[in-house]
Amino acid sequence: MTSSSPLPRTPLPTALITGASRGIGRAIADELATTHHLLLGGRDRSELEALASSYPSAEPFAVDVRQVAEADVAGIESLDVLVHSAGVLRMGAVADLDDDAWRESFEINVFAVARLTRLLLPALRRAGGQVIAINSGSGFTSGSSSAVYSGTKFALRALTDALREEERPHGVRVCSIHPGRVATDMQRELHEYEGKDYNPGAWIQPEQVAKTVRLAVDASREAAVESLNIRPSGIRTAGMA
Ligand SMILES: NC(=O)c1ccc[n+]([C@@H]2O[C@H](COP(=O)([O-])OP(=O)(O)OC[C@H]3O[C@@H](n4cnc5c(N)ncnc54)[C@H](OP(=O)(O)O)[C@@H]3O)[C@@H](O)[C@H]2O)c1
Repeated sequence: MTSSSPLPRTPLPTALITGASRGIGRAIADELATTHHLLLGGRDRSELEALASSYPSAEPFAVDVRQVAEADVAGIESLDVLVHSAGVLRMGAVADLDDDAWRESFEINVFAVARLTRLLLPALRRAGGQVIAINSGSGFTSGSSSAVYSGTKFALRALTDALREEERPHGVRVCSIHPGRVATDMQRELHEYEGKDYNPGAWIQPEQVAKTVRLAVDASREAAVESLNIRPSGIRTAGMA
């Protein structure tokens, strides 16, 4: 190489983010786009292609998380970050919730996380990567109308707590992030269910959750951000109506 030759380009680390099409996952994609090649999870391929073209280095990972199969991850040899943000919120009393509500919530919020993680563990181990689950305050407490949602998030915490210990010897770190209410479509739907006016400025902005993901991603290898709570401060701010 002569002194005027360009330096060989170091390939970017890769991050796969489920639920990258909207809300918290989208903010995480915005945050990691400056440092990572992104695989953008969601269901609408053309929407994800448009989003990918807005980032320096990104491509769609268009699949319903309930149907992820080996073929979907076949090309992923090495993975530095796997963020599970895809999720659903079903509210209702145990007296009213039918089997489908229970099944769909557990399939998306828990079973799909387990399957995608399992399929990608070889790539994560190869990279010494991290698994980051967007859990919830509901991963610690339950209450009226929250049996299904909290049930899935308790189960997700059980999954990540086990995975963290299992993968330590393989060099894979596992982080569980527990936000309180965040201003996204999911929060709007929750307000509709509660019959309350929705004021996005009153709740955590998705970018703030993305910064907690950045904290975990940037931790050097001797350190692991294992569990992190981010709550609405309750302090009135300029964005509040
Ligand atoms: N918002 C809150 O207050 C809050 C608080 C604590 C924790 N969380 C958690 O944070 C995560 C993200 O929530 P959010 O508020 O960003 O939700 P959101 O705005 O409703 O977005 C949900 C995301 O999940 C994806 N998704 C849903 N079902 C899917 C499926 N079957 N296959 C593939 N993707 C699917 C959606 O993709 P499509 O665009 O394809 O539908 C979308 O990208 C969830 O796990 C949620 O439980 C949210």
